[in-house]
Amino acid sequence: MDLPAAHGARARVVVLVSGTGSNMVALADAAARGQVAADVVAVVSDVADAPALARATERGIPAIAVPFDRTDRGAWEARLADAVAAQDADLVVLAGFMRILSGAFLARWPDRVVNVHPSLLPAFRGADAVGDALAAGVDVTGVSVHLVDELVDHGPILAQEPVPVLPGDTRETLLARLHEVEHRLLPRCVDELARDLDHPASTHERSTP
Ligand code: GAR
Repeated sequence: MDLPAAHGARARVVVLVSGTGSNMVALADAAARGQVAADVVAVVSDVADAPALARATERGIPAIAVPFDRTDRGAWEARLADAVAAQDADLVVLAGFMRILSGAFLARWPDRVVNVHPSLLPAFRGADAVGDALAAGVDVTGVSVHLVDELVDHGPILAQEPVPVLPGDTRETLLARLHEVEHRLLPRCVDELARDLDHPASTHERSTP
């Protein structure tokens, strides 16, 4: 029996990273264990020596550097988009990717770019959500996974989970607990999105922060 081409196919995920890549590792390892209906087919970084690239290579995943060029941001982003498109990506996952993507990039993967962020959005958007939560003295922060729009850490929420801030918490201790949640939540959301590619009629509960 002939099945439609997309039916049962595993989604192709490209992960964008800037740093250590613990979320990329969690996602790639969950996919390799068959817990995510997708394959991480490449890891792309704006930072040439990002540790995440070496961790991808260790796993046999193509690791590609597209170093950020502040003198011509548009040309850099076009190179980045072409590198992702060359992998035939169905989904693009931002896992500690610390650059804002323009509408020109996002239009190539509409509703298919996902970000993980260590706060309960819309609280503490930006590059230092953990430090900002500690400075604000909140009792609870958390993790958000969301679809990406042109604003920083903004777009329809796919999942959120609170994480308590404990007395005496440092950036390191709090980040470690946030990472535990991120490493569970991100693979789950990518799995749901990947399954939706096969069944586009199904919907997630989504809200815009
Ligand atoms: C993660 O905590 C992620 O949520 C955060 O960067 C860290 C990357 O860690 N992203 C943002 O703050 C986005 N604004 P990792 O490189 O070990 O996955």
